[in-house]
Amino acid sequence: MSEQSTISNAEAVGKLYDRFAAESRDLWPDEADVANFGFGEHLHFGYWETPDEDAPLDVAALRLTDMVIDRMRVDETQHVLDIGCGIGGPALRAARRTGARVTGITVSEAQAEQATALSESSELGGRLDFRLADALDLPFPDASFDAVFALESMMHMPDRVAVLGEIGRVLRPGGRLVLTDFFERAPVPEVHRPFVDLLRETSLISTARVKDYPSMLRAAGMLFEEITDISEHTTRRTFIEMSKPWTEWAAANPGASLEDALEASIPAPGMIDVDEFGYLLLVAQRS
Ligand SMILES: C[S@@+](CC[C@H](N)C(=O)[O-])C[C@H]1O[C@@H](n2cnc3c(N)ncnc32)[C@H](O)[C@@H]1O
Repeated sequence: MSEQSTISNAEAVGKLYDRFAAESRDLWPDEADVANFGFGEHLHFGYWETPDEDAPLDVAALRLTDMVIDRMRVDETQHVLDIGCGIGGPALRAARRTGARVTGITVSEAQAEQATALSESSELGGRLDFRLADALDLPFPDASFDAVFALESMMHMPDRVAVLGEIGRVLRPGGRLVLTDFFERAPVPEVHRPFVDLLRETSLISTARVKDYPSMLRAAGMLFEEITDISEHTTRRTFIEMSKPWTEWAAANPGASLEDALEASIPAPGMIDVDEFGYLLLVAQRS
């Protein structure tokens, strides 16, 4: 990927989240800027212990946040970088749960503002800092962080090698990286491909190949400790939750089909049965 196309990708992703923030505000004007399709302050997939566990999306998303935070093994003496901080929920949670100082970056101006507002309205303001920055060009010195997490942001950065290189640069020796990412578990059958393609186009995402991660990490001066396929706990239920407005509409409109969702550019209903679309949790350590 050329530098030019990488830069325009970050800009496009920033605009996507600016729009998402604005739409959330318009749809739920009374809910203090953080209401959005049930994700709450944590803009990522949920983690359910069992396929039918009775937990809403925001509760399951918070659980995944905690799984990521705990794997960093940081304490109140340490400084963490959150790559792709969204509206600040995970960073706030990390500061509250570990006592660590957290700096979050995002390519969305609206998100940086929302995250700052969220931290200022909490008791943790002094331990949090949010800014607009591109993970491919981190505005921080070498070895300046004790840990880095990237909770569902890697999939927006097609040049994963370059991002991991930047993470390896700012991470101190012995520091840990924890991330989640989308990956292709198996080739997607033709029948599901239109929905996967639509998801890629509308969300500006790419999928990783698990087998590439160890060498990409090594090239960035890191060694992997854990790569776990957590798809069974995350993807299907998250797409079901995201499809709820569509499902309600379809129930009220006899004859509605997945073709209608495709035509309306809504990928989630068609993603529910795509078992090949995977979700991984990865832990690595800086050498
Ligand atoms: C799905 S959201 C996840 C947000 C947050 N981690 C959470 O879980 O609530 C993806 C985030 O990645 C950020 N992102 C995407 N590309 C980025 C880049 N090149 N540099 C920094 N952040 C990026 C977006 O701005 C957005 O905040």
